[in-house]
Formats: sequence, structure tokens, C-alpha cells
Amino acid sequence: MKDNDTTARDQWSGRIGFILAAAGSAIGLGNIWGFPYKTGVNGGGLFVLIYLFCILFIGLPVVIAEIMIGRNTQKSPIAAFAQYSSKRSPWCLVGVLGVVCSVVIMSYYSMIAGWTLNYCFKSLFRCFDGKNFQEVTQLFKNLQGTTWEQLIWHIVFMGMTVGILYGGIKNGIEKWSKILMPILFLLMIGLVLYSFIFLFQGTVQSLRFTFLPKGPLKPEAIFKAVGQAFFTLSLGMGTMLTYGSYLDKKSDIPKASVWICGLDTFIALIACVVVFPIIFQNNAEPTGGPGLVFESLPVLFNTIPGGMFFGAAFFLLLVFAALTSAISITEVSIAFVIDHFHFSRKKMSIIIGILVCLAGFPCIHQTYFGWMEYLTDLALPLGGIFISLFVGWKMPKKVTFEEFTIGNNLAKMYPVWLFLVRVFIPIILTIFMLNMFNIIPTESINAFFGFGN
Ligand code: PHE
Repeated sequence: MKDNDTTARDQWSGRIGFILAAAGSAIGLGNIWGFPYKTGVNGGGLFVLIYLFCILFIGLPVVIAEIMIGRNTQKSPIAAFAQYSSKRSPWCLVGVLGVVCSVVIMSYYSMIAGWTLNYCFKSLFRCFDGKNFQEVTQLFKNLQGTTWEQLIWHIVFMGMTVGILYGGIKNGIEKWSKILMPILFLLMIGLVLYSFIFLFQGTVQSLRFTFLPKGPLKPEAIFKAVGQAFFTLSLGMGTMLTYGSYLDKKSDIPKASVWICGLDTFIALIACVVVFPIIFQNNAEPTGGPGLVFESLPVLFNTIPGGMFFGAAFFLLLVFAALTSAISITEVSIAFVIDHFHFSRKKMSIIIGILVCLAGFPCIHQTYFGWMEYLTDLALPLGGIFISLFVGWKMPKKVTFEEFTIGNNLAKMYPVWLFLVRVFIPIILTIFMLNMFNIIPTESINAFFGFGN
């Protein structure tokens, strides 16, 4: 059932604009803050190998699936699911889950992004100079304990996000992605070169740690890799679907998806080569967890030549990466209200921005913050199961085949993709969910794969 809604929908100017915006969504705090610390905590190379497997066989097919639903229906998530079922169908709940996730994720994402903004200024104004590890840790704790400071940076970051969304698809999201993404790539390359020149020993050690798969595998590593793949590729909540809905009918979806996954993975791996050298060089352990970037790095920046600029550049990089992701998270809610209630984008960007900003206030409490993160870990793969089943079983094969093969000659790959979304991915993700609820213990899964402890 297709309705004849002919209201002009904003569109990307072309394939490059779309790829940069979608890569901007994917590349974010998850890559530069999350991936290195998870690689550190989960033992390095072996975790990275499993992660790459997840990106290729789970992430990439789901990216294709989401973009396909969006491009085909030209609608935001809830309406898109209704198009191939009905307005009251349970499938629409997958879209509802996406809109809820958009508010939940943004509430804490903007808080972390606020910390990075704060750290950018602190580095520039030399607030970390001469401080040892305990003192920097204390500074981070102080920030987490100071309500007004956190709230101000959170509001500033939300303001920047809304400012971009206000401009719309082509003149807002695409324009800023085209500015911020190249700067981000350049900053990243600059930081890697810096590491190679000034921290050669540490860089070699980082490369070994990141790329040489060595046991033993941490029991929960497989699940951390699946969860990370979903978060980093912005999957399971309709972000790629929404971005896909602004894509023209000529673009080649599988090729664009390979670019998005490739760029995202490249930046995540490069982030390890930026974050770890400074740690190895100082004989510290890369197992610092979520505080790695905020607690260890400023101390270590103190110990190298020009560390203050290195630090400011690093945190600026994080801000840019977070910004292009934050706009995509918030866009899911904005597209929903525009499509369903036909409100103007400009008005809705501001209203949704304020609501999401307020929803973030409770995240100054660590416990609440933790709950929101847990909800995300659960909701994204759950969304992934239903999105895969939807394209695999609910959308007509004729439609998905056509969407898959527009602009390319990849017809031979279609059955492989179809098998993955119909069978493989739903099964793997269901096992993941059962594990989250402890119905299938991690040990049994590791024993099954022969990973042992
Ligand atoms: N992919 C983003 C990151 O890596 C986060 C994100 C999650 C964005 C879900 C959109 C949707 O930081």
C-alpha cells in the first residue's frame, strides 16, 4: 500500500553528500571515545578481529537494509514500517522504538559531548598543566559532580546541534557534514603523524596491541563487539533509515553502505593509534575503561612536546565527531513530527531540541546515565532484529532486489545479503538478547565457539 503523499521532501544533493552525512552520523564518540577503551578493556587484537567480523556480516547488511527501507518509502521510521504493513501494525512499534531511542541516546550523548567541549577549553587554557593522574582524575570527578557546569556545556552542545538541524537536510546537515568531516579526517591524520613522530615506540606497541590477535578472549568480548557495531554504525533505531529517506532514486545503496562502514571502521582503528601510543609510552595500561580519554589522556598530554595543542586538537576532534552524530540522532525525532503532524522544520528543530535538552538533565546523575546506556545496549540490537526481519520477510523480494541492484551489477550478492538479513542476523541478535537477560550464559556461547576462557 503506497499513499500518494506528494509534499516535496528535502533531499541530499547527491551521493557524496549522503555518504558524508551518513558517515558523519556513524563516526562519533562511539569511535574515538568508545572503541579504544573497549579494545583496551577487552584485550586488543582478538576483540578487534571479532568486531571486524560483526561489521562485515551484521553491520553492513543492516546498514543496507535501513537505507533501503528509507529510500524506498521516502518516509521517517514509523510511517515507513506502516507502508508495507498497516497503520496499526505491530511493525510500527519498531519505528516508535527508534523515536524513543533518539531521545534516550541524545540525553546522555549530549552530556558526554559537553564534557569534550569543556575539555577542549581546559586544554587550551592549560588547566591540566603540571597535574598528575590523581589530580586530573579529581578534575573529572569535580566536573561530574558540578551540576551547573555539566548543564551549561550540555546546553551549549544541544544549541550547536539545533543550529545545524534548523537549516534542514541540504543546507543544514549536508552543508555542515561537508565542512566538519574533512576537518575531522585531517585532524585525525595530523594526530596519527604526531604520534608516529613523537611517540614512535608507543605507536609501534599500539599497532601490535590493536592488530595482532592474541588470546585469551575476555568472555563478554563477543557481545561487546556486537553492541559496539550497532552503536557505532548508528543502527537499530532508524537513523540510517531516516537519512536514506532523503536519498535520490538513482544512488547505489550497497556501494554507499560499504563506504559508510569502511570510513567508520577506519576511523575507529585509527583512533586506537591516536589514543594508545601516549599510554604505552608512559608504561600505563590501556584498560582504563570509559575514563581513559578524560582521565588518562590529559595527564599524558602533559608529558609530550606541545601537548597542550595536541590535547586541544584531540578534544576538538571529539566535539566535531559528536556533533555530526548528534544531529542524526535528533533528526529521527524531528523527521517523525514533521512527517506525522506536518509542522515546519524550523519550529520543530527548536521545540524538539529543547525537549531533548531537558530530557538530558537527569543524566547528571551517574545512575540514571547508566540506565540510559543500558537501555541503548538493549534497544539497538532489538531494533536490528526487527529491521532485518522486515526487509527479509515483510517487504516484497521484488522491491528489495530492485533497491539492492539500482546503479550496480551486484545481483549475485543479493542472495547472500538476503540470507544474512532473513536468518543469520536475527539468530545472532536473538542469542545476544538472551545473553543480556542471562538466559543464555556467556560461558556456554564461548564454549560453543570453542573460545573457552
Ligand atoms: N554512531 C554514533 C557514534 O559512534 C552514535 C549514534 C548511535 C548515532 C545511534 C546515531 C544513532 O558515536
